Amino acid sequence: MRRLLVPAGFALVAAIVAPSAFAQFTPVVPESPNADGIRTSYLFITIFTVAIFLLVEGLLVAFIWKYRRRKRPRFEDGAPVHGATKLELAWTGGPVIVLFVIAVFVFAELPGIKNIPTATAGEEQLEIKVTGRQFYWQFEYPNGVVAIDTMRAPAGVPVKLVVRSPDADVIHSWWIPALGGKIDAIPGRTNQTWFRADKPGTYRGQCAELCGLEHAQMLASVEVMPRLDFTAWLEQRRTDQTAGTGELGKETWGGVCAKCHGLAGEGGVGPRIAGSPTLTSPQSLATLVRHGRTGPQGVMPAVGSDWNDEQITALVSYLKENPPSGNAG
Ligand code: CUA
Repeated sequence: MRRLLVPAGFALVAAIVAPSAFAQFTPVVPESPNADGIRTSYLFITIFTVAIFLLVEGLLVAFIWKYRRRKRPRFEDGAPVHGATKLELAWTGGPVIVLFVIAVFVFAELPGIKNIPTATAGEEQLEIKVTGRQFYWQFEYPNGVVAIDTMRAPAGVPVKLVVRSPDADVIHSWWIPALGGKIDAIPGRTNQTWFRADKPGTYRGQCAELCGLEHAQMLASVEVMPRLDFTAWLEQRRTDQTAGTGELGKETWGGVCAKCHGLAGEGGVGPRIAGSPTLTSPQSLATLVRHGRTGPQGVMPAVGSDWNDEQITALVSYLKENPPSGNAG
């Protein structure tokens, strides 16, 4: 009875786990042509790996069963086998063919994944500068609009991303799985990637390189909007930013300051800052975030070494209107 129960139990567990476990191993639904190329390659290679796994494990189990000892004495050798030319040719030629087929397929897919579509006349293309910093993503649009952690992009338009990290920072990795592969943000180097999302929606990702204490907080998302909505958003942001107001202040507080000091300024990895006069003084705040601080009061990195005055003003006006209470939750 037990002989039957154990395999039956395994089969039951496998039947329950298998579909959801399989879903864990498949890439997310692609929403950009390059992400689609990655998934197609993954699935193509998976066909071979699964087939080879089943073949090898199947033969292993079959041979263990077929050539089990039975009643032979423990130390009796099996019949010697000398050469099997056809078999040897098969297990040499087979893998060569499999690897060749996979290589051809991947090289055929690669340009569609890696190469940024060249902008042709009459076709729109958008370029966004992406900067990875401890511990936030900063985006800069061609008209100078700055955004933190949430990128907005127009649907159906190829978006070229120019990805870097400041010299004094560390390596981060830009990755929105539904919108293509990872690309590292490396100090002293400029990398490029792209996406073209046809469906409006929010696509989430995460810094994919362990970059320090708050790496897990370094989330990113891309909000794909209908073209006209995007244009309107970008123009509004430009106006707000010139005036030193708008969402940028809130984004900077939540995306940069709060990750270490808490959303209410209550303190966390960094000290409590609620009520600090620095928060409402553009000059002190600019000096602090641009140059950082070392000393008995503690070390504050230069988190905003390249922030312009508009960003500082937006942050200060947000903090004046919404002073951090100091009470978490
Ligand atoms: Cu940036 Cu992990």
